[in-house]
Amino acid sequence: MYMTPLLEIQDLKVSIDGSQILNGVSLQFEAGKVYAVLGPNASGKSTLAKAIMGLPEFNITSGDILYNGESILDDNITERANMGIAYAFQIPPAIPGVRFDDFICRICPEYQCKEPEGHFMGKACSCRMELYDDFERLGISNLAYRDLNEGFSGGEQKRSELFQVLAMQPQIMFLDEPDSGLDYDSLKLVGRELKSIREKGTTTMVVISHHRYILEFLEVDVVYILQGGRLVYTGDMEDIPVLAEKGYERFLSEMKEAA
Ligand SMILES: Nc1ncnc2c1ncn2[C@@H]1O[C@H](COP(=O)(O)OP(=O)(O)O)[C@@H](O)[C@H]1O
Ligand SMILES: [Mg+2]
Repeated sequence: MYMTPLLEIQDLKVSIDGSQILNGVSLQFEAGKVYAVLGPNASGKSTLAKAIMGLPEFNITSGDILYNGESILDDNITERANMGIAYAFQIPPAIPGVRFDDFICRICPEYQCKEPEGHFMGKACSCRMELYDDFERLGISNLAYRDLNEGFSGGEQKRSELFQVLAMQPQIMFLDEPDSGLDYDSLKLVGRELKSIREKGTTTMVVISHHRYILEFLEVDVVYILQGGRLVYTGDMEDIPVLAEKGYERFLSEMKEAA
């Protein structure tokens, strides 16, 4: 029986400032599965995720993006976020003036104040304790009162970005190099967090990464490799150690010869 994939990309061509970055990518993401999107630097991985999220500078010149079988090309980034699509930036922008804990309380109903007199943003109330416990779990309690991403270290940015995306409780999330710049302990924290989401099975996860640790930890279902703005390979977890050993160039040329 054919099941409509959660997200289907059809022959997507994307340009930025007039230069074409994606040259016709077709692929699918099914509900509840875990995907790795891999590929050499500048192959278009971030562009693919950002175009799906609907960042305005990414111009879709042809093709389609179907979410639950319906085109979302006419929906803006906010509408797509409300539908359940989330993107964790490779390099998240800083937002001075917006406090991290206030921001999370605004985007996630679970952390909003349940006290009858209502919530005054910025005032510590008992409801925030749950939030602070969860911050603790990802080792980011020290960031609670700081402005979003302002002066955060690389590793702090990654953990705060992941926290934001999880707080949105998306149906599908694109994590753009969620492990870059993390020390061993943070890597373990993030890995464990992602693994527990995988085990719940309610969120489709798309992980863009170069590091085998996080991918093996997660037990990826499908591996997509992009090169030069095209999908050049579809495989599975077993490819990851081979790829790590051979590198993209050799891996892909051997695959081509074998085909
Ligand atoms: N805002 C932009 N303006 C111009 N070129 C861009 C922009 N964003 C990405 N590119 C270019 O698009 C190509 C693909 O980038 P990207 O999707 O970030 O690759 P990856 O994430 O695979 O490393 C690169 O050559 C990059 O320089
Ligand atoms: Mg990238």
